[in-house]
Amino acid sequence: MKTNNRVKTLFSKSFFWGAATSAHQVEGHNYNNWSVWEKSAERVAQLRLTHPTGSIEDYFSGEAADHYNRYKEDLSLAKKLGHNAFRLSIEWSRIEPEEGKFDYKEIKHYQDVTDYCIKLGITPIVTLWHWTSPVWMAKYNYFESKNSVKLFSRYVSIVCSQLPKVHNWLTVNEPEIYTDNSYIHRRWPPQKASWKAGILVFRNLIKAHKEAYTVIKKLNPAAQVGIATNNSHFEAGNKNIDTLLYTKLYRYINNELFLRRIQRQLDFIGLNYYFHSRIIGHQQVNENEITSDLGWELYPQGIYNAIAELKKYHKPIMITENGLADRKDSYRAWFIEETIKAIQKAISDGHNVIGYLHWSLLDNFEWADGFSPRFGLIEIDYKTQKRTIRKSALKYSEIIRSQR
Ligand code: BGC
Repeated sequence: MKTNNRVKTLFSKSFFWGAATSAHQVEGHNYNNWSVWEKSAERVAQLRLTHPTGSIEDYFSGEAADHYNRYKEDLSLAKKLGHNAFRLSIEWSRIEPEEGKFDYKEIKHYQDVTDYCIKLGITPIVTLWHWTSPVWMAKYNYFESKNSVKLFSRYVSIVCSQLPKVHNWLTVNEPEIYTDNSYIHRRWPPQKASWKAGILVFRNLIKAHKEAYTVIKKLNPAAQVGIATNNSHFEAGNKNIDTLLYTKLYRYINNELFLRRIQRQLDFIGLNYYFHSRIIGHQQVNENEITSDLGWELYPQGIYNAIAELKKYHKPIMITENGLADRKDSYRAWFIEETIKAIQKAISDGHNVIGYLHWSLLDNFEWADGFSPRFGLIEIDYKTQKRTIRKSALKYSEIIRSQR
């Protein structure tokens, strides 16, 4: 494992240091399109095929980390670790359980959570849509129909008007990953394999972002509004013309297609960095020197390239996710340290990086992979809901304190 010198140099005093979560992955007891899909006959049949003898319980989000009830404990741990920022998402299905009927008790819950953050000196960074939708959206085929845009912006206007103390918003999370998994590759609900549907969804998410941007800015002109995009570091593995062309093409489709279209309605870019992709010809041929529990190559230094590539947009960049599945906590401390060094290099080269939010604060429900991958700085014992701070979280905390 390559380790350079200790992380050293200055991040600004206002730099956001913290971690990220999303509602469905940690709250527990959500009723939305995902929770329904998890238990659908088709999904259960698929799981029984892949797990003929084992239990499939791990694939139902259920109580998750019970963060909905334990947010005070979790935020106090974040505070103890020196975090000054926390990314959470609002669960649309809680706010609008029936079309047009808003649940103010649930809105109050998110007021309490964000107020508690503020009380602790933790800036809340709030995502409005992290892939889950109310089940009634099925009648509009979720984001396939253009009605979704106005339905989403109505929900956004209610939420933002009720959370006036929140100034940092992310409209949508990783539209490219969602479209690919849900509409092209049939991995996630609604498990379609339709380019036509995928293009419609992608377009509507662009419109939804733009509308949401306008709505938020009207309600709170001081708000900073971004999206979270999952950009990889695509690297040409040789200088052959086909390699160079494919590298450019992958970069364009994955990293640029969405951003280019929304760049005029964007105050900052939320960058989720997980992947390095070494391209040879039209294929990805990574060295995979070190991999996570999910088999993903760990290539922390690539975040530098992912940041540098965004220079053309002239926007501040917040790292809104970056992390690894590492149950034994073998690589996380090293990974965080190397990532922060690369960010620091980017800053010293003139890139405007304003925060680093590790994925995730807590072990979480990892979508179609269930509870087995462990991404948390804090380990969750799902039987007892006991929280245990991982060693790597202490290392991250040390880095944060050394940079203040
Ligand atoms: C998503 C998270 C997910 C993480 C790790 C990101 O693409 O936004 O919800 O848990 O990756 O797979």
